[in-house]
Amino acid sequence: MATLHAKVEPILVLALFLVLFQPCLHFLHADAAGRHGHGGMSLRAQQAALLHWKSTLGSSPALDSWQRQTSPCNWTGVACDAVRRGHRTPLAVTSISLPNAGIHGRLGELNFSALPFLSNIDLGYNSLQGEIPPAIASLHELSYLDLGRNWLHGQIPSEMGNMGHLIALGLAFNNLTGCIPASLGNLTMLAVLILHQNMLTGPIPEELAKLTALEALDLGSSLLSGQIPDSLGNLTKLSILFLYSNQLSGPIPPSLVNLRNLQELELDDNHLSGGIPIFLANLTELSKLVLYENQLTGPIPPSLGDLTRLNYLDLSQNQLAGSIPSEIGNLVDIKILRLSVNMISGSIPATFANLTVMRKLSLFDNMLSGPLPREFANLTRLVELTLVNNSLSGELPSDVCKGGNLKVLNVGVNMFTGPIPRSLKTCRSLKSFGLASNQITGDISRHIPPELGRMRNLQYLDISINNLSGLIPQELGSCTKLLSLKINHNSLSGDLPMTIGNLERLQIVLDVSSNKLTGGLPAQLGNLAILEFFNLSHNQFNGSIPTSFASMVSLSTLDVSYNNLEGPIPTGRLLQNASIGWFLHNKGLCGNLSGLPICPSTPTTNHYKGKNSLVLAISIPVGIVIIIIATSVVIMIIHKKKRPQKTTATDRKDVLSVWNFDGKLAFEDITRATENFSDRYIIGSGGYGTVYKAQLQGGRLVAVKKLHPTEEDMNDEKRFLSEIEVLMKIRHRSIVKLYGFCSHPMYKFLVYDYIDRGNLHATLENEELAKDLDWQKRATITRDVAQAMYYLHNECNPPIIHRDITSNNILLDTDFKAYISDFGTARVIKPDSSNWSELAGTYGYIAPELSYTSVITTKCDVYSFGVVVLEIVMGRYPRELQSFASLGENHELAIEDMLDQRPSSPTMVEKKEISQLVEVALACLQTSPQSRPEMQDVYQKLIRRRPSNSIATPFHAYALEEITDKEV
Ligand SMILES: *[C@@H]1O[C@H](CO)[C@@H](O)[C@H](O)[C@H]1NC(C)=O
Ligand SMILES: *[C@@H]1O[C@H](CO)[C@@H](O)[C@H](O)[C@H]1NC(C)=O
Ligand SMILES: *[C@@H]1O[C@H](CO)[C@@H](O)[C@H](O)[C@H]1NC(C)=O
Ligand SMILES: *[C@@H]1O[C@H](CO)[C@@H](O)[C@H](O)[C@H]1NC(C)=O
Repeated sequence: MATLHAKVEPILVLALFLVLFQPCLHFLHADAAGRHGHGGMSLRAQQAALLHWKSTLGSSPALDSWQRQTSPCNWTGVACDAVRRGHRTPLAVTSISLPNAGIHGRLGELNFSALPFLSNIDLGYNSLQGEIPPAIASLHELSYLDLGRNWLHGQIPSEMGNMGHLIALGLAFNNLTGCIPASLGNLTMLAVLILHQNMLTGPIPEELAKLTALEALDLGSSLLSGQIPDSLGNLTKLSILFLYSNQLSGPIPPSLVNLRNLQELELDDNHLSGGIPIFLANLTELSKLVLYENQLTGPIPPSLGDLTRLNYLDLSQNQLAGSIPSEIGNLVDIKILRLSVNMISGSIPATFANLTVMRKLSLFDNMLSGPLPREFANLTRLVELTLVNNSLSGELPSDVCKGGNLKVLNVGVNMFTGPIPRSLKTCRSLKSFGLASNQITGDISRHIPPELGRMRNLQYLDISINNLSGLIPQELGSCTKLLSLKINHNSLSGDLPMTIGNLERLQIVLDVSSNKLTGGLPAQLGNLAILEFFNLSHNQFNGSIPTSFASMVSLSTLDVSYNNLEGPIPTGRLLQNASIGWFLHNKGLCGNLSGLPICPSTPTTNHYKGKNSLVLAISIPVGIVIIIIATSVVIMIIHKKKRPQKTTATDRKDVLSVWNFDGKLAFEDITRATENFSDRYIIGSGGYGTVYKAQLQGGRLVAVKKLHPTEEDMNDEKRFLSEIEVLMKIRHRSIVKLYGFCSHPMYKFLVYDYIDRGNLHATLENEELAKDLDWQKRATITRDVAQAMYYLHNECNPPIIHRDITSNNILLDTDFKAYISDFGTARVIKPDSSNWSELAGTYGYIAPELSYTSVITTKCDVYSFGVVVLEIVMGRYPRELQSFASLGENHELAIEDMLDQRPSSPTMVEKKEISQLVEVALACLQTSPQSRPEMQDVYQKLIRRRPSNSIATPFHAYALEEITDKEV
């Protein structure tokens, strides 16, 4: 039921209630059915029809109870009711309710004419394929039909117009094509019609106006065109009307004024034109009005201020002009107000001070002028305020942070003069602060308070392109969550504080260019190991570039041009992509880059990344001879290890530079490579989508995960994109690289590195491969997975909870090296979902607490990891999981018996290691989440276990490990 559409759920519950709890209805209808000629239908015939259908379906545990020996009335998902037949009232099957039951197959195999008494069918969230059989229309009694979230294609059969008792019809999230049949207008009892997210074309049929009982109509996210029919104004009971994300054009019809019960009107992402109709003001029940991304013109009608129940108003991305009517200040319940990307001018009305429950206000990309009203300080619930790109002037209100809730404050590209309110230091929750491109002048210490260091949550700080002078505050180094720091294009002077080197999470950008900075570059900057874009250009830095820069292994740009630097440029991976332009206009930089002079004393070979790190990794007391020997051994090893994967490595770079240009992938390239997602290319499927193997132009292989459409926030493109951006920045040697994504009206898909051997589960199931997977390899896989999870939990910002760690999501390459896949998909798709455990997570790996709480923590992942470790040790899914918990300290006894017998039996050292793995796994499987370790503890325990006391281990093995770890 939930699958029809989350937003209209209350109405659906009502609809289902009507269906299930009105037995009189059934009697009545059964009589009617009798007249239709089903009088002789026995329960046995109904059973036979269901059993036949079962025999055509893929195996699904949900159907285990469907057996010939038992009555269908006792089967899972099947319900019977007494129906009147002549003078008798025998039982008949009246309901099939199996949402999310893993049903694979075709609806066409179900003999509907044998089940004439069905009044309820809920098969949402399954894998039904093929077309909707027209024969379904023979179910004259059916009141509730939900086939949402399946793989149905073809047209909606026009015969469905005969199902006169339908109260709710849900076909959302399928691949249905063709027009909406006009005959649906005959379903006069219909209260809910949800066709959301299909590929339906053509106009909205006028005949739908006959559905006068309709309370919810959702035709969003398809390819519908033409105008919104004026006749929809006849649907006076409508409380929800969603037509968003189609290709509808023309004006918003005046007849909608009759929809006095309308609570939510969403017409966004169409081509609607004309003005915002004044009559909307009569729809006084409206709580949500969403019209963004259309071509609406003219002013914002002041009468919108009459919609006092409104809590969500989004008029952004249109061509609205004029000023913001002061009446908007009457919308005292408004929580989200978006007027951004229009041509709105004038000042922000002082009446905004009344909007005291407002949480998000975005007015960016308009032509607003004048100061921010002082009264803004009343908006104590504000979480987000974005005013970027207007002509606002004056000072920022001194107590803009009064409520302490502000997380995002961006006033960039305006004419604010400052001072920046000192009260800013009370913005403890602030994550993003943008002031770029204003007219803020004077000493930075007057603006940015020394207490800045207390803003511990700050992730984005942009004060670039102003006229700030003075020294860069040392305190910046305490904002340790910073991901992005831009202070470029000011007149800042003095040294670059070495405390900047503390910002180890800095990842996106550090831009200090075009200032008057002097002195040497601090070696501590080398700690910024995940930084990608670093601009030091157009300053007066002198001295040499610290060798520590070689450990900034994530850098894609390092611009030091226009300074007074001299000496060798950094070596390492960066150099492979270096542009000569980054180093020009200095005092005397040299290095192995065409256009620069060769340094007099440069060592001859440094093609191999990591050499410098290696040198650093080895402490000084170790003799020079050892360094040389170790270095060459390492180089040989890297070289040797590299060779089979060499092509992959270059391909990766290739792909990154071509596709990641603006984060979007070539949609055509992927659809062509998979022949429009043909089944032939499927290599797997999971909770969130189907995975295809695609060979792109140029021959490189990628794995494409086509996401099942989801109902939540489908239209919140921005959020989807920003989540994906976070994921794309993740890099770890044991995490499958996400190259990019595509977000298209028809499909959303993610593109990952293709890992050739497939998943751990399949490997363990294969007798030959399981034999090859010896104990050393198994231990290494466990360590690598633990390290990658530790990285996701502790080193990513925000931390990423995987939510679906299983042996299916751990991929192996030809060398049996492990990669975690599918990280974060859950987060992208259902950010705050309370019922995720139904969807995310795999049965058997889900932490027990999720049966009674929906709070997802890192400890849920830890539990799943424990299951996987046991699975690796036992060579199969540990079915006897529960009993392990009770084994407690005595597990040692059990280990011998449970070991996978297929690899050659473990050596004494390996046995110890296995025992350690089991110990860790059992700790992870504790029922109480509090008693489970964190991944950090797990990982440390596992690496400590490595044969560190074994003299036989060559020294270089450690050094190599350390270097490669640094690359994450
Ligand atoms: C369903 O099962 C119960 C016991 O398992 C039995 O008493 C009952 O008669 C069964 N109902 C039908 C309709 O077979
Ligand atoms: C479907 O069921 C009806 C009624 O039991 C029966 O007459 C008909 O033969 C069945 N059709 C098929 C294809 O099994
Ligand atoms: C249903 O609708 C179609 C088209 O609007 C119409 O021709 C037909 O007579 C209506 N009635 C039935 C029972 O199909
Ligand atoms: C809408 O209602 C009006 C007045 O009741 C009626 O004249 C008109 O035919 C209806 N339109 C449709 C398409 O049913």
